[in-house]
Amino acid sequence: NSIQDTVIIGKKVIYLPSCHSTNDIAAEIVQAGLFAEGTVIITDQQLVGRGQRGTSWNTNPGENLTFSVIFSPDFLPVSEQFLLSQAIAVAVCSYCKNYCADASVKWPNDILIGQGKVAGILIENSIQGSRIHHAIAGIGLNINQAAFSAGKATSLFLETGSVLNLQEEFVKVCRHLDQCYLALKNPQTVGTIREQYIASLFGFGAKRRFLLEGEMREGEVTGVTSQGKMLVRFTDELQDRAFGLKEIEWVW
Ligand code: BTN
Repeated sequence: NSIQDTVIIGKKVIYLPSCHSTNDIAAEIVQAGLFAEGTVIITDQQLVGRGQRGTSWNTNPGENLTFSVIFSPDFLPVSEQFLLSQAIAVAVCSYCKNYCADASVKWPNDILIGQGKVAGILIENSIQGSRIHHAIAGIGLNINQAAFSAGKATSLFLETGSVLNLQEEFVKVCRHLDQCYLALKNPQTVGTIREQYIASLFGFGAKRRFLLEGEMREGEVTGVTSQGKMLVRFTDELQDRAFGLKEIEWVW
């Protein structure tokens, strides 16, 4: 119940055979005031998994990684909170790149292999004044699941044909999270997180189609703003435009 070769992440690991949502358990631990940064709550069977924008996250028991990490990024001003999301996405993506070179981050923080979603991330921040008091990062990473009812999902097994040991993979992901979080904390290396995020960004520098206000548009992703908006340059326009989550849709 502790990972040896990390500095912050997984020094304390709480394993629950089954629970409603690891993000909710993490929130209860934070509320009780007993948490140490880097504490991980992991389960084999999540009964009421939550996804982004009020969706649910369903995953086969015992086949994938389902966990939440508690952070105390009090060094990050609220205006920079997207950086934590970037660091976590970069960590999970770089872990996946060990198996599949074409792993990427679909803005803001879905992890894809090819066009299939291999991992979802749900970050819940608690703000105190102008600082982030704590953040709970929930990660659902599809490892051994062989079939999905939802459209564009994939797993490392489907991509590589190999069944992986969940405990070993959990330790590997935590090492990536640890490295990226340490990079984020250090003013001299935080820039590498932004660079790696852009270098992994799905659709970056490639012509893609988007749905904007009901209209199909062609353009390319040119970056993200520090507030976490996606920058898109439409083919028939000269300037980048910034979009929030509800403002633009990808067309596959
Ligand atoms: C998404 O919609 O893509 C985000 C999915 C996040 C799922 C993870 S699984 C562990 C943690 N607990 C939850 O209830 N959700 C997150």
